[in-house]
Amino acid sequence: MSNYHIKTLEEYFQVYRKSIREPENFWEEIAEEHFLWRKKWDNVLSWDFSKPEVKWFEGAKLNITENCIDRHLATRGDKTAIIFEPNNPDEASQHITYRQLYEQVCRMANVLKSQGVKKGDRVCIYLPMIPELAISVLACARIGAIHSVVFAGFSSTALATRINDCDCQMVITADGSYRGAKTIDLKGIVDEALLSCPDVKNVLVAKRINSDINMKDERDVWLQPLLDNASTNCPAEIMASEDTLFILYTSGSTGKPKGMVHSTAGYMVYTAYTFKNIFQYRENDVYWCTADIGWITGHSYIVYGPLSNGATTIMFEGVPQYPDYGRFWQIVEKHKVNQFYTAPTAIRALAKQGSEWVEKYDLSSLKVLGTVGEPINEEAWHWYNETVGKKRSPIVDTWWQTETGGIMISPIPFVTPTKPTYATLPFIGIQPALMDETGEELKGNQKEGRLCIKYPWPSMARTIWGNHQRYKDTYFSTFENKYFTGDGALRDEVGYYRITGRVDDVIIVSGHNLGTAPIEDAINEHPAVAESAIVGFPHDIKGSALYGYVTLKDTGETRNQDNLKKEINQLISDRIGAIAKLDKIQFTEGLPKTRSGKIMRRILRKIAEKDTSNLGDISTLLNPEVVQNIIDNSL
Ligand code: WT7
Repeated sequence: MSNYHIKTLEEYFQVYRKSIREPENFWEEIAEEHFLWRKKWDNVLSWDFSKPEVKWFEGAKLNITENCIDRHLATRGDKTAIIFEPNNPDEASQHITYRQLYEQVCRMANVLKSQGVKKGDRVCIYLPMIPELAISVLACARIGAIHSVVFAGFSSTALATRINDCDCQMVITADGSYRGAKTIDLKGIVDEALLSCPDVKNVLVAKRINSDINMKDERDVWLQPLLDNASTNCPAEIMASEDTLFILYTSGSTGKPKGMVHSTAGYMVYTAYTFKNIFQYRENDVYWCTADIGWITGHSYIVYGPLSNGATTIMFEGVPQYPDYGRFWQIVEKHKVNQFYTAPTAIRALAKQGSEWVEKYDLSSLKVLGTVGEPINEEAWHWYNETVGKKRSPIVDTWWQTETGGIMISPIPFVTPTKPTYATLPFIGIQPALMDETGEELKGNQKEGRLCIKYPWPSMARTIWGNHQRYKDTYFSTFENKYFTGDGALRDEVGYYRITGRVDDVIIVSGHNLGTAPIEDAINEHPAVAESAIVGFPHDIKGSALYGYVTLKDTGETRNQDNLKKEINQLISDRIGAIAKLDKIQFTEGLPKTRSGKIMRRILRKIAEKDTSNLGDISTLLNPEVVQNIIDNSL
């Protein structure tokens, strides 16, 4: 019998040791006993990080939706699979049972087929957090089409880039979306994006806000009538274990986003197993992750992980502050939520409003609290623990990435003693390493370095869509024979890990992973801008916020600086999305550079952090004279 459900610290250590000593035996047992296979594998794992190439459960055949839906029908047909909680609390929530989910996914799958979508085709899903989003994702998986979900807060340019990069021929969207008191013209954004996506043949449009939109003949179709006429039966396409399940974009150190490619079997096994243990999910629990399915958190821990365990998972359409700051807690009370998983930025924003909002509601159903996306500071951790969890519910601070597919370092609640700001111990099967700058592994405790993973795990991304070389360069070239995460971390005296933050040009703002390069590219498009550099600085709610240093072209004309700042932020909003707007913009005469012309972000970062006591030796710069000026005018 495999240890699918870990219940004690002793058991954790025992299972962890086994997963490291005999990884193939370990994962084979988990896969064998807890999933539905059309054919078993010939080989558990083959890998070579120098290529890099990783294959799990080769030779196996399966469909992930049979694991997430069909196999539950006999025992959980009438159990709620998804609770949809709308943006507006006055609108009724919806409970979708496993049987209803089966029928709706089959209908959608049949619609996709009737529109010409075939196995291996890429489908772009640009939807708000409404049931159609989860259903579309699962319908793609049902027929072997590759879904590429684009978060519905991205701009038309960002959407177009993602559609074109993986050559989607279909987009699934909605007339619009609700966001607090506002509505967003999603279809308008799609129309604009598609001006530069000639290959998109079909757009399926879900009705959500009943707005008056343009439907382009031959291209745009309303979804509902098609669904109404579709059959509730659709045989699952039988997939190979390494067939691509989905592509999800994440930002990188160049302007082009990286389409992370996730496979089927390994992703399924790892997300299911982590979900069960890290949230200690029990049969009748109600689980809620507040993320959007447009991010990896939603893919793995709203859709696939919970459903493959036959869980009840909440999809929330709204925002934490609408109609007031009690919305999260009202939902916890209403649905008697047992596991609650959110981002530190949301916790900080809510904590700032005081405890009254929390105390109005009965949160006694809560058993486990989780955080994800960025480091959680001590103060927010304590507020979460005391005010929300009443010191009864352990907090799982889960570290992972779009690339890792599933949670990598995290406490197991009621098993691993927690420690504020620490993600604590590696999950089963995960072998972290801390590296120094020379490429040596730092062995032993009380070490700080760059965080790598030494051995493959089932849900790791297999490549970057259309660019395997970039996958190799980004993740497998900094340290030989290791996956490099881009994060720094420390290991304390008992071996607990604390993630200290990015060591590359990625900044985590409100839990969103933003590359500096695409933002700089957007700014540099402004006709008045010569060049720019973005750094992060500490922000009490967002964790980090963006500080832009911008040098203007010397055209002799003077422009109103406030207007320029607005135009720059508008450009960023248009090219990427409002999440990437700058909090501070400083116009500078020049940017500090090395002799080879590389911008010295380290210096700019220190100035933005208001820590100019130790800027290091600046005399070797190409233009040391600009530094004092930047300090004098800093914001
Ligand atoms: C980056 C990945 C994983 C889903 C959401 C973000 C940071 C993530 C933690 C944590 C400290 C964290 C890292 C990581 N991060 N979780 N618990 N503690 N930092 O996915 O957009 O791919 O971002 O988020 O810097 O590399 P992502």
